[in-house]
Amino acid sequence: MDRLDQLIEEQERIFLERQPASAALTERATTHLAGGVTSSWQISRPGTVWLTHGEGSRVWDADGHEYVDLHGGYGVGLAGHGHPAIVEAIASRAPRGTHFAQPVEDAVLVAAELGRRWGLPLWRFNNSGTEATMDAFHLMRAATGRELVVKVEGSYHGHHDAAMVSVYNALEELGPAERPVSVASGAGIPQAMIDLTLVVPFNDLDALARVLDEREGGVAGMILEPVLMNAGIILPEDGYLEGVRELTRSRGVLLAFDEVKTGLTVGPGGAAERFGVTPDIVCLAKAMGGGVPCGAIGGTEEVMRVIAEGEYEQVGTFNGNPLTMAAARATLTEVLDDEAYEHLDALAERMVKGSDEVIERHGLPAHVVAVGAKGCLTFSESPVRSYRDFLAVDDRWSHCHWLFQHNGGVFLPPWGKAEQWLLSVQHAEEDVDRFLENLERFAAAVGG
Ligand SMILES: Cc1ncc(COP(=O)(O)O)c(C=O)c1O
Repeated sequence: MDRLDQLIEEQERIFLERQPASAALTERATTHLAGGVTSSWQISRPGTVWLTHGEGSRVWDADGHEYVDLHGGYGVGLAGHGHPAIVEAIASRAPRGTHFAQPVEDAVLVAAELGRRWGLPLWRFNNSGTEATMDAFHLMRAATGRELVVKVEGSYHGHHDAAMVSVYNALEELGPAERPVSVASGAGIPQAMIDLTLVVPFNDLDALARVLDEREGGVAGMILEPVLMNAGIILPEDGYLEGVRELTRSRGVLLAFDEVKTGLTVGPGGAAERFGVTPDIVCLAKAMGGGVPCGAIGGTEEVMRVIAEGEYEQVGTFNGNPLTMAAARATLTEVLDDEAYEHLDALAERMVKGSDEVIERHGLPAHVVAVGAKGCLTFSESPVRSYRDFLAVDDRWSHCHWLFQHNGGVFLPPWGKAEQWLLSVQHAEEDVDRFLENLERFAAAVGG
């Protein structure tokens, strides 16, 4: 057993000793909840962590331990917990009715603000990232009368059939690197659906051009996470997003940005604004709702006409729900202003600089990748530019780091190698410093 395995064993023991109440809840839950959780990605090793409450930048587990929350509810918590503006919006909305399935004025305000930030004029709402990208697939097909959609290998776009293709599969299943095959990610996805989703490697314009040319006239659109955020963080190389825009436009293929994770967290107008590339459709969810379930799609007049004229019936009982709209309005118009982004940038700089220093001082085989309020440590010395590079990263390092952070009072997302930290507007320098102290202890322990 090497040093890393030894440390993992030690830290897992500490984890279990610290959290008997969580273990007891998991045991009770397995009788009532399939697998003992409410979503499979809530499971962590060596045990599921049950939470009781959050406040500002902190959360508390069922055993009473307090943590700096860098998990951020998988990318939702940009406003932090219990932000007064969002609490006020929800509290004043709730007694006046939380659901009508008829539109309320807040929906117009939210759509106008998203339109201003993304430069896309027309919007519709739904209730999750999965619904947002599902609408995008449907919309691209409806608008073009074509069936094929291109996605990037290793990118996650939610759990509907068309998107669950080549997401987190093993290398042996993926086919040749320059010509990946489409493969189901998990059971229950019909082969007929898999065949309609074509897969290309990230950061590879030649491969995209080849697929579009081979399937000329058959491809409705491409869905793209402009920064891959479910394989650590993989940045687009210079010119990649512009190249994708050009290739799709020149072939009459629509481009949808999945900004479920990047939207609002990487900047006020998401990756589209940050990288200066405007897609035909944008998908949002997560941070937009300030902690309430939400989803949205925005698009050009030309694309959204298909919805406006009823060709594609974009529907949903809870779409534009009053509670969601109130929380989203407060998040967008009262919380995420210029000052908030300045604060987030300053904290992010402290995270990156501090992490770089620890990595260098201890010679850790890692590097930091950060964009806006999101960032991660990638435990590889060489840069990761595609999902296949990411697969080669030894995940024991991230698990061990996750355990050190967790036992040291910093809650990072449990799927360590794939996930990132999220800072919030309520985080402060001392929150960042606790992360850096844990990183220092981890690095010293591994080095020793
Ligand atoms: C990029 C991306 N798209 C879509 C989704 C699906 O969102 P949801 O979990 O709200 O359905 C996720 C979720 O993590 C995501 O990261």
